[in-house]
Amino acid sequence: MLEIFVMTHFYPLSVSQVENLTTQSVAISFEIPTDLQSNFAFKAGQYITIKHTIHGKEVRRAYSISSAPVVSGPQNSVTVGIKEVAGGAFSPYANRYIQKGDVLEVMPPQGRFLYEPTSAPVHILGVAAGSGITPILSIAKSVLASGPEYSFTLIYGNKSPQDVMFSSEIEALQIAYPNQFKIQWVYSQAKEDQALFGRIDTAAINYVLKNTDTAPFDGAYLCGPEGMIKTATEALEKSGLATDQIYYELFTVATESTSEAGEATEGALAAGNIAVEVTVDGETTSLEMNAKTILLDAIIKADIDAPYSCQGGVCSSCICKVTKGSAAMIKNQILTDSEIADGLVLSCQAMVTSAEIAVDFDDV
Ligand SMILES: Cc1cc2nc3c(=O)[nH]c(=O)nc-3n(C[C@H](O)[C@H](O)[C@H](O)COP(=O)(O)OP(=O)(O)OC[C@H]3O[C@@H](n4cnc5c(N)ncnc54)[C@H](O)[C@@H]3O)c2cc1C
Ligand code: FES
Repeated sequence: MLEIFVMTHFYPLSVSQVENLTTQSVAISFEIPTDLQSNFAFKAGQYITIKHTIHGKEVRRAYSISSAPVVSGPQNSVTVGIKEVAGGAFSPYANRYIQKGDVLEVMPPQGRFLYEPTSAPVHILGVAAGSGITPILSIAKSVLASGPEYSFTLIYGNKSPQDVMFSSEIEALQIAYPNQFKIQWVYSQAKEDQALFGRIDTAAINYVLKNTDTAPFDGAYLCGPEGMIKTATEALEKSGLATDQIYYELFTVATESTSEAGEATEGALAAGNIAVEVTVDGETTSLEMNAKTILLDAIIKADIDAPYSCQGGVCSSCICKVTKGSAAMIKNQILTDSEIADGLVLSCQAMVTSAEIAVDFDDV
C-alpha cells in the first residue's frame, strides 16, 4: 500500500546523539531516514514537536532546531536543545533519561519564525535569552554560511557563563567567522570581562546598536521571555528598524489561563451545544461540543488527529480555517489581521461564536 506522508503526523525517529550542554540542558540529535529527508527539510528558526507518553499521559512539546538547514545534499539529522524546566513534564525526562538509540515520535518542522536566505548580503541581529538561543543559533549559522559579506550580531543573555547553552558551537562560530560574527554576552548573576551585567534591557540593546561598526541591521530575530521581546522590539523600532523587520518567538504561554473564554470572546459566545465539522487530511468528521469548550479541546476529545503542539497560542501548529460559522480567539500573537479576516484561527484559542461551525486544517 502506498504510504502518504502527512506533515502534521508524527514519525518515529531514532536518537543519534545526546550531548550535555550545561548541567540543565541537553542537545538531542535525531537521525532522519532517507525516505523522510525531504519532509524533514526545514528553514532556520523552525521547530519540531515531540510526542511522548509520561506516566500514562501523552505530552507534546515544541523544540526549536539548533542545527542549520543543509543547503545542498540530504538533511540526515536535526538537533534540538532542551533546557530543564523545574517541575516540567517532558524537559526533565529529556535531560535525564533520553539516550542514543531511543526512538521518539516527532512531527516534521513547522513554525513561522524563520530566516529566508537572501541573495543580497544582510547583517542580522539575534537577541536570545537562555534556551531561546536554539532557533537563533540555526539562523546565525545559516546567515554566516551564506558568504563573507553576510554578518550576524548576537546578544545572548544568561544567568552566568555556566548556563550558556551551545557554548562550544558559539565559540566555533567566533573562530570560523571572526569578521562576520560578533557576540555581546549579558549575565544577570555574574560579572565578567567583556560582558554586560544585568538582563537584556533597553540599555543593553542600545549599547550594542551604538557599538556596531558594521552595516546597520537588516532584520532582527528575538527569542526569550515576553518582557525581553517587548523591550528589545521597542528599542529596535526606536533605532529605525521597521516592525516587519523584527521577528520573535515565544516558548512559554503567557500567564493568563486559556481554559476559559477571555475578554476577547466574552458576550459573543454561542450557547448550548454546537455542531462542528472538522476536516483533517481530507477527511471530514462531525461532532457536537459545548459552547464553553475551546475548539481544539473538543477536537482532541473526539479523537480527531488535528495538529497541535503548545496548546497555549504560541507555536502556530493548530491553525485552521473557519469555512462556515465563526469563532473568536482568547488570545492571538501569531495571526495577522488579514489572516483573521481570511478565516484563520488558532484552534487552541478558539471559542465558537455561532450555532454551527466548520473548520479545515488542510486549507491553511
Ligand atoms: C515554538 C516553541 C519552541 C520551543 N523551543 C524550545 C527549545 O528550543 N528549547 C527548550 O528548552 N524549550 C523550548 N520550548 C518550550 C518547550 O516546548 C516546553 O514548553 C518546555 O520544555 C517545558 O516543557 P515541560 O513539559 O518540561 O514543562 P511543562 O510540564 O509544560 O510545564 C511546567 C511548568 O513550567 C512552566 N514552563 C514551561 N516552559 C517554560 C520555560 N521555557 N521557562 C519557564 N517556565 C516554563 C509552565 O508554565 C508550567 O508551569 C519551545 C516552545 C515553543 C512553543
Ligand atoms: S497549539 Fe500552539 S498555537 Fe495552538
